Amino acid sequence: MSDEFTRPLQAAQAYAIEYLEQVADQPVYPGEEALAGLEAFEEPLPPHGSADHEILGMLHRNGSPATVATMGSRYFGFVVGGSLPVTVAANWIATAWDQSPSSFMNSPTGVKLEEVAGRWLREILQLPDHTGIGMTTGATMANFTGLAAARHALLERAGWNVEEQGLYGAPEVKVVVSEEVHVTVEKALSMLGFGKKRVTRVPTDANGAMLAEELPELDALTLVCTQAGNVNSGAIDPIGAICDKAQAAGAWVHVDGAFGLWGRLLARRADDFIGIEKADSLATDAHKWLNTPYDCGIVMTRHPHDLHMAMATVAPYFKAEESVAPKDMVPEFSRRARGVEVWAALRSLGHAGVKSMIGRCCDHAQTFAEGLRAIGFEVLNDVVLNQVVATIGTPDELADIRALVEASGECWFGPTVWKGRPAIRISVSSWRTSDEDVERSLSAIAAAKNAIMGD
Ligand SMILES: Cc1ncc(COP(=O)(O)O)c(C=O)c1O
Repeated sequence: MSDEFTRPLQAAQAYAIEYLEQVADQPVYPGEEALAGLEAFEEPLPPHGSADHEILGMLHRNGSPATVATMGSRYFGFVVGGSLPVTVAANWIATAWDQSPSSFMNSPTGVKLEEVAGRWLREILQLPDHTGIGMTTGATMANFTGLAAARHALLERAGWNVEEQGLYGAPEVKVVVSEEVHVTVEKALSMLGFGKKRVTRVPTDANGAMLAEELPELDALTLVCTQAGNVNSGAIDPIGAICDKAQAAGAWVHVDGAFGLWGRLLARRADDFIGIEKADSLATDAHKWLNTPYDCGIVMTRHPHDLHMAMATVAPYFKAEESVAPKDMVPEFSRRARGVEVWAALRSLGHAGVKSMIGRCCDHAQTFAEGLRAIGFEVLNDVVLNQVVATIGTPDELADIRALVEASGECWFGPTVWKGRPAIRISVSSWRTSDEDVERSLSAIAAAKNAIMGD
């Protein structure tokens, strides 16, 4: 074999392994020196090319130190999973294949793995057998795609073909969201022409779950956007009860389950998910709680025909029992073969392994909540999943504590505002986080709190 591929790939492998072997020990958020190293990339467009080893060396020297250590075990910001080792390796193979699974003709392997991963996802998330599945960049686009299927279905029933005629002059769809709707659902609604402001907002309970009894009157032109997993509190809307009301009226129910949908695997949360299989469309991520590399979102619907009608690039040809080319089930035509890593994650963990990873993260969140209370924090949410929202002192003291923890390099979590109160948010989403990591992080928080507020 020629050196063309061997040399750069071997160099990349060596750098990546070196990175991954130390990432749990590097400062979780890069310090000033590491960030200053990024200036090296501020070059003019080179008139001529340079050697592969030089390019890869620069990535490693200047890029690696300024990464956020989400692949370590003490990153608790936003809702960011790590990547399981086998999924990183599978991703390398998939990159070497460079497949676009737009259709079987384009990539038999890419489409097969996506189909099998889709079947396994249906099973593990306990969704009906005929659920249609598409893989997108993330939950933002999975929400967009599910809502596009909803838009098609609701307007078609009203005698309007939105794909052909657009929204000009169309019957108005009433969109219902909760007061706690995620910003990316609002973005998806705006991209679909529904408008962020033209929505009815339903109040929530103290933990941020929609109050089903506060739903407005629903009809066959209503789209209800629910959520499984509030980005702050982890709260799960009463989706089964909402579906019952919506279905009686002929409305469509969408679930944004970017991370929280995985809570369905836990016996302790079984009650919260009763009836979720009745939802018309759902969105989740693999790159969050399934711990696959970026990027991978998943849209699911029990109306695959409507999804196809919204996404088809050819004359629609959907027939039950026949698979449809992925390009006609999601917005993207060309894209990476995301099913490879989803398949690898599910194949390596199995049902029991995924369940135990999700359960472990939730246990760690409980430990965080108890530990934070013990050092004087007020925990503001009911810790139902992997999210903890807590506060202490004045807003300035809280910000100083967070900054001191960040500077310590020990762990990282973000600021948030919960029910009007400035807070910190801890999200435990990585397969790699251990009991020791939680203890070490709590010690760092306690030290920062003592430094700012005294013992
Ligand atoms: C509840 C919720 N919905 C949607 C999203 C958007 O997901 P993505 O970043 O994968 O597009 C997030 C991201 O944190 C989320 O927490």
